[in-house]
Order: sequence, then structure tokens, then C-alpha cells
Amino acid sequence: MEAAAALLRAGQVVAFPTETVYGLGADATDPSAVARIFTAKERPRFNPLIAHLPDAEAALAEGVFDDAARSLAAAFWPGALTLVVPAAPGCRICDLARAGLPSVALRVPAPERTRALLARVGRPVAAPSANRSGRVSPTSAAHVLADLDGRIMAVLDGGETPVGVESTVVACLGGTPRLLRPGGITREALEARLGVALAGPEGPDAIHPVGPGLLASHYAPRAQVRLDAASVAPEEVALLFGPDPLPGADAARARLNLSPAGDLAEAAARLFSALRQLDGIGAPVIAVAPIPERGLGEAINDRLRRASAPR
Ligand code: TXA
Ligand code: MG
Repeated sequence: MEAAAALLRAGQVVAFPTETVYGLGADATDPSAVARIFTAKERPRFNPLIAHLPDAEAALAEGVFDDAARSLAAAFWPGALTLVVPAAPGCRICDLARAGLPSVALRVPAPERTRALLARVGRPVAAPSANRSGRVSPTSAAHVLADLDGRIMAVLDGGETPVGVESTVVACLGGTPRLLRPGGITREALEARLGVALAGPEGPDAIHPVGPGLLASHYAPRAQVRLDAASVAPEEVALLFGPDPLPGADAARARLNLSPAGDLAEAAARLFSALRQLDGIGAPVIAVAPIPERGLGEAINDRLRRASAPR
């Protein structure tokens, strides 16, 4: 951890675990450090990144929080929620990390050791998921190395990430908060806290560009992904959910069940790892069983829809 903090302070990129996925971190105050993230990921465009802070106090200093943002921060930080708020006048997060926007995306990750690392760095750490651009997000150090070995200075190995899908991104820029990306904190939990329904990502006042997490084809395995499969063909591999077998799944080339018990949290935690495993088999198609669109199912289905988008 000492070495990782020193590298980050020196402007290098280091991958580290969070409760959602592994992030590829760099000093968010240093544009040349942030530029190294885009180079390592081969990300074609400069999309705005999430700045990670060790605690809510440090995050509150970088942005302007209205009542809704304050309430969400108090309820869900540390945790899998990213808040997009207007940048504070003294905001240290550089233009490149913010993609030149007047707003800033802030998050306080849950794991104590991740926050200890951030505290040691002493500056906001910009971190997108630690995968090559367009690939499935990493939920283990091995996934990070599979994509980025030789391109990054280090990866801190914290085992498998417990949540397994990225943070929920909510914009609090005046008016009703907007859900920009479903993720590890459910819509239901956010709306219960706010007492109102979240608005959708687009609106007349939308000042955010469509970010990487909002691009249609983002989480892209090599295989074609077929959603809401009613059955599985022999040449396909199957991604299953729940106790009921899909017809044909037993005769397919391979099958993985995200959660035989039908538990959406377990399914989210296994999603990216399962996609990588099934993709590694080399079948032309991954057939995916229907997954309910409630709770964490909203984030799971969002990632699966992106994985299935034409590219
Ligand atoms: O769980 C996560 O959020 C992971 C871990 C590493 O923390 N990070 C992550 O970062 O997923 P990334 O860069 O893949 O996703 C950042 C998301 C994108 O959807 C981006 O468009 C949005 O946050 N975003 C960042 N800044 C924004 C801004 N100023 N306005 C609107 N959206 C913004
Ligand atoms: Mg990503």
C-alpha cells in the first residue's frame, strides 16, 4: 500500500480494488497523470472520470452539494454511489479528469483499505474501471492483469470485489436528481431516501456529455451476447439465473449460473467474471437467461444490454 500510494503521488497509474470493480487510479489533480489512464486503457476519448476520496468530508470540499446531494452522501457514503455535482470554486480535480465540465463526479468507496490508500495519497484519485476500453470491467486483480499487464505500474490485490457492478451515478445539478447510470446502490434505495422518483439521464438541463458508461457498446465481450434467451443452442454458451434451467443449457458448450438461488446481489458480484469466463471458451454466442428488472437487476440488465449492443 505504501508503494502504491508513493506511485500515485509520483503521477503513475496504479490499479486498486473497490467494492464495485477494480479502478485504474491516477492523481486527479495532475493532468499528465490522468492522461496516463487514457493511454493505458486505450480510451479513444477524454471522458469525465470519477474522483475517489477517503471520506465524505474530503468529497464535500470538492463540490457544491444541494440538499438532495447532502442527503444521499450522508446515507450512502462510503458506498457504491457516485454523485455528480457542480465543482466547488477551489476544486482540485483537473480539467482533463472532468473533461472540461463545470461539474465533478465524486465517490467515497466502501473498503477500509481502499480509503486508507486514498488518505495516504492525500489527493483525489481519478479512477475508471481498470480494463482496456470496451472490455468487461475487472472484479479481480487477475482480470486487471489480463487487460493491462505491462501498461500499468502496479495492481493492489484485494481479492474479488463484493458488489461486482460499478457505482450508481446520480447527478444533483439542481431540480430532481437524475439517475445517469444504474449500479451498486439500487434505484429503490435512493428513491426511498429522497422521497421522490429519480429523473432519467436526459433532460433540457442536461449538461453532461454521454459518458463511457452511457455508450451503447461499452461492456463488450468478444462473443455476441443474446439477451432474454428462452433456450440455448448447442454451439452457444449459457449465462443462467435462478433455479429453472433453460431448455438446451445442459447440452450447450458451457453454462454458468449467476445465482441458482435467484439472488440479484450474488448475480451482480459474479456478472463480469462470468462474462469473461464464458467469453474465454470461444463460443460465437453467449445466451443469457432473463433477469428481473428490480433492485440490482436494473444495473445487471444495463450492463448486459451494453454487452449485447451491435459494435
Ligand atoms: O464503481 C465505479 O464507479 C468504478 C470504480 C473504479 O469506482 N469507476 C467507474 O468509472 O466506473 P468510469 O470512468 O468507468 O465511469 C464514470 C461514469 C461515466 O458514466 C461518466 O460518464 C460519469 O461517471 N461521469 C463522470 N463525470 C461526470 C460528469 N461531470 N457529468 C456526468 N457524468 C459524469
Ligand atoms: Mg468502465
